[in-house]
Amino acid sequence: MTKILMVCLGNICRSPLAEGILESKLDASKFTVDSAGTSSHHQGSLPDPRSIEVAQKNGLDISNQRSRPFVKKDFKTFDYIYVMDTHNYNDVLEKADTEEECNKVSLILNTLYPRENRSVPDPYYDALEGFDKVYEMLDQSCTLIAEKLKSS
Ligand code: 4NP
Repeated sequence: MTKILMVCLGNICRSPLAEGILESKLDASKFTVDSAGTSSHHQGSLPDPRSIEVAQKNGLDISNQRSRPFVKKDFKTFDYIYVMDTHNYNDVLEKADTEEECNKVSLILNTLYPRENRSVPDPYYDALEGFDKVYEMLDQSCTLIAEKLKSS
């Protein structure tokens, strides 16, 4: 079983979408996808209603997800950790103990734009259109991630 973790700040807007999208592109008997937030502020919460709505528009149900914080043990549990922005990247790496753990972490948009270190914008204070844009970026990234995972 290959395990992939998606990480953002609150685990209510971006990473729940990334989890749902990647999961929909992979065979559940071979891959597990989860998500977490670098902050525990929204622990136990449902995804933001706007993320649920945008997912639903695209045929995905993410309403079974609940926010949880990223923990050090996630480095042991997961094979690949994709973060949404450079703040998440720094916050996650701060918890890493080894180079192997650091090497598991990548900015998700580097799959589409290698080495450009672009961030998925935080849509929390945006209108619904911001969530549509985030969905599109994550969908494109996850298509590439799924292709890579299936061929490795
Ligand atoms: P997320 O978005 O990191 O994509 O889940 C946010 C959700 C909540 C907050 C910030 C970002 N907040 O400040 O409460």
